[in-house]
Amino acid sequence: MTTLVTGIGELTTQDPERGPLQDAALVVDGDLIAWVGPAASAPAADERIDVEGRAVVPGFVDSHSHLAFAGDRADEFAARMAGERYDGGGIARTVDATRAASDDALRALLARRMAELRAQGTTTVEIKSGYGLTVDDELRTLRLAAEVTPETTFLGAHVVPPGTDVDSYVALVTGEMLDACAPHARWIDVFCEPASPHAFDGEAARTVLEAGRAAGLGLRVHGNQLGPGPGVRLAVELGAASVDHCTHLTGDDVDALAGGDTVATLLPGVEFSTRSPYPDARRLLDAGVTVVLATDCNPGTCSSSSMPFMIALAVREMGMTPAEALWAATAGGARALRRTDIGVVAPGNRADLAVLDAPTHLHLAYRPGVPIARSLF
Ligand code: NIG
Ligand code: FE
Repeated sequence: MTTLVTGIGELTTQDPERGPLQDAALVVDGDLIAWVGPAASAPAADERIDVEGRAVVPGFVDSHSHLAFAGDRADEFAARMAGERYDGGGIARTVDATRAASDDALRALLARRMAELRAQGTTTVEIKSGYGLTVDDELRTLRLAAEVTPETTFLGAHVVPPGTDVDSYVALVTGEMLDACAPHARWIDVFCEPASPHAFDGEAARTVLEAGRAAGLGLRVHGNQLGPGPGVRLAVELGAASVDHCTHLTGDDVDALAGGDTVATLLPGVEFSTRSPYPDARRLLDAGVTVVLATDCNPGTCSSSSMPFMIALAVREMGMTPAEALWAATAGGARALRRTDIGVVAPGNRADLAVLDAPTHLHLAYRPGVPIARSLF
């Protein structure tokens, strides 16, 4: 079954060979894009959708989220707006709420959140565990996440559970917990943050990542969120796909990113929601670093699931152009997940597309908070 999508006022392909197209059309065959080009030369298809001059962009790729949780921490957000600082301590509250939730309750929460994402134009999302922190609860959240996305990440090393010592917890994460979780995860992640009393230092993070790699998982790192630290350089050294947050960077960190294969994923919803200084995207881009945007959607540091909001923040607060921010939220997200079948509108790729109630992509940043984006299919 083929569908012709026509009447595309502006098509952002993110395909360097094609560039953006005006008055464009595309043909979808099943789940895949079959043809892209000017509307005037579009081939026939079984069905036709006319988007009446709207802009079409690749579906957003949200390469960093923590959607497998129960409860909320809106009270912590309010306290931060009144001056309190974030240090990761609230994670334990979400762990309690998540452990107490039944499988069906978590499944319903995930389904609702997936619908919320699609309604805002996100077509791929990565989901981390990390609110279980026991073998059974980490396995359970990963299994449930795997029901809704192939991009699942084992984050047993989110924080050290209260009352446990770091060394024995790292032994559990890299032993029995990893054995149970690895078959249900594509990635492993660690909250490497010496500035937090709850997270992991560089040495513990290295142990976790090396064990994950030996178990066949790809690597991702939460690094340099709350202060300078070893996370970014460790991620680059170990060839992680992405290091995420990158809020506090030294010149050496920027040089390492510029010289390595690891992308920098910025999560400006976190700085918004923790009232913190934004990462310096311009400095990274000017140094030649691949910059990606994601939501980090989680109950503690950013409760927004909106990629258009991240684009607006990146443009308004981090010195990115609207085109750079859109690339970072689409093709960049694909890069962070080491995927070549999404993020770029080209024949053979997945037909993951977002349509905007707007004539151009500029409106994503120009109309913040207005729900103009939705997934096309
Ligand atoms: O990416 N930094 C660590 N983890 C999450 C926050 C999790 C939480 O506070 O519940 C983050 O910001
Ligand atoms: Fe995160």
